[in-house]
Amino acid sequence: MDSPLCHDDPVEDTGRNDSGNPTFSEIVAARLSRRAMLGALASTALAGALAPLASRPAAAQAASSLTFAELSGKPSPRHAVAAGYRADILIRWGDPVIAGAPAFDVHNLTAAAQDKQFGYNNDFLAYMPLPPGSASSEHGLLVANHEYTNTGFMWPGIKRDTVLEKMTRERVEVELAAHGLSVVEVRRTGGTWGVVADSRFNRRVPMTTPFRIAGPAAGHKRLQTNADPAGTRVLGTLNNCAGGKTPWGTTLHGEENFHNYFSGDAPADSEAGARKRYGVGTSGRGYIWWGRQIDRFNLAKEPNEPNRFGWVVELDPYDPASTPVKRTALGRFKHEGATTIVNKDGRVVLYSGDDERGEYIYRFITAGRFDPANRAANLGLLDDGVLSVAHFDADGTLRWLHLVHGEGPLTAANGFDSQADVLIEARRAADLLGATRMDRPEDVEPDPVTGVVYVALTNNAERKDSEINPANPRAANIHGHILAMVPPGGRGKDADHAADIFTWTIPILAGDPSKPEQGAKYHPGTSSDGWFSAPDNVAFDARGRLWIATDTGSNWSKYGIPDGLFACDVDGPAAYLTRRFFACPLGAEMCGPEFTPDNKTLFVAVQHPGVDGLPGSSFDTPATRWPDFKDDMPPRPSVVVITKEDGGVIGS
Ligand code: FEO
Ligand code: CA
Ligand code: CA
Repeated sequence: MDSPLCHDDPVEDTGRNDSGNPTFSEIVAARLSRRAMLGALASTALAGALAPLASRPAAAQAASSLTFAELSGKPSPRHAVAAGYRADILIRWGDPVIAGAPAFDVHNLTAAAQDKQFGYNNDFLAYMPLPPGSASSEHGLLVANHEYTNTGFMWPGIKRDTVLEKMTRERVEVELAAHGLSVVEVRRTGGTWGVVADSRFNRRVPMTTPFRIAGPAAGHKRLQTNADPAGTRVLGTLNNCAGGKTPWGTTLHGEENFHNYFSGDAPADSEAGARKRYGVGTSGRGYIWWGRQIDRFNLAKEPNEPNRFGWVVELDPYDPASTPVKRTALGRFKHEGATTIVNKDGRVVLYSGDDERGEYIYRFITAGRFDPANRAANLGLLDDGVLSVAHFDADGTLRWLHLVHGEGPLTAANGFDSQADVLIEARRAADLLGATRMDRPEDVEPDPVTGVVYVALTNNAERKDSEINPANPRAANIHGHILAMVPPGGRGKDADHAADIFTWTIPILAGDPSKPEQGAKYHPGTSSDGWFSAPDNVAFDARGRLWIATDTGSNWSKYGIPDGLFACDVDGPAAYLTRRFFACPLGAEMCGPEFTPDNKTLFVAVQHPGVDGLPGSSFDTPATRWPDFKDDMPPRPSVVVITKEDGGVIGS
């Protein structure tokens, strides 16, 4: 995400990990410099994927199972999709969600209106079929994360030197209402998708919504505040980036850059170290007007409030009256998302990345087993289990290190008095275990067909010259990687996601393959429109093919390509031959790719159009407008629904 005022000020591209653990690039250097890499993978599910590649680009393109004609990567004020497909706006910031929502009026924003309208900056999307448990692909609930607000694009006259004066209590309350989650009932009628107006399922979850805190840290003194002396209830969820779905029909929402919302002079108390490790109160680039207007965002008044954010949230979208829950057993860090898979022994495995430069990849395994016949029991599964963090060895081994109080260094001698302490300071616990520092882990998601777990490592612009290596010759890894984590046991349902030893490899090093100095690595058939930078969200279609959404931030203007959605096979002669399918409008980030079960519809989230890489753009001087939007303001964040004109399956 960007700072709320400055589009060239990315928040995650900041390192706060002083642990001294080896960086991922150092390990990659050792790993990929070994000629034995393919040999080490011979017994893995990736062996087929990396087997003989087509020698000529045209032959490889023809071999791909993806049949769409690749989209040109030219920037445009409007979004674009491959020929033969439709891409229509389904819902935008300010559109009605709750019955009685007033019409959107950008010149008269109020919290009362925003509480009933679609929130700002949609990121993660989940499609949940109706009726529950069905595979309906024409009727369901769409759940959206509203990650953050672009303050300078919501009101006129907002600049660094005016923001504290302009952002009154009333306006801060609008921003609180524009954050959080939305649930809307959606239906396809006559081939066209629409939102079901006034549905009883339609829901907003703004920052004023009561949440329950569950798991080992619930009620801990470090989570207690003046408003909540029991430490078990909190209002709202912040900076929900990516997410996931559970097998029992709930949605998961990562709380990512929560540190950005707290300001003021924190006391010199025992939380000082944790605040520093999470960047709380040190950024100076965040929403400092929140702390000026509302006490709980002021560290001088509520020093424990940040400990109540940085968790994974679980929502039951099928029950509009349900209380959302923060699941503390999953650890506290800057969760990009949280994806699940049922392991072959019935335990549920959850993967999550901590998106900041130099941070880690985590895994959680439930103690109990998923019971398809007992939804009520499943709703407690995420409160008890073992959290682990990834360590990558140079020989292709991945070891999961357990964050369990009392084991190894996670004891009172190191300031961990309980499992609650381990979870509240998961980053420091992972430091002590020797986890591997990564290049900003965004989505971490298992391919349900192959069982391989893919990680989008978006970039690490601060890599030093001293870290250049043969496998990654860039002085600054501005383009990122796709990492594959391979469980033992075999493909698909045979994969053992609960094993403590995996293998790993890197199928894609992003960047422009026509510029050898960038060190990009793709299938050799990848075209000049098919390469990408800064992988962020990933999704899989029913055939297990990989779909990659990108977030280059303002760098798109340097590379001359807009953010968008790319797809590739992961097996066969065209494995990792990426093709561009969708292009964002100028200044937007691509988020939230989500298929219906029949794969005939693909929902995507277009976040902050008209913002990134457009210097001088603001509410007052928008750099772009959508051709069909007449108001004098930048285009609105939106959900776009993609279908094939002939009604067929997306991608093939
Ligand atoms: Fe919100 Fe890591 O992107
Ligand atoms: Ca993201
Ligand atoms: Ca992003």
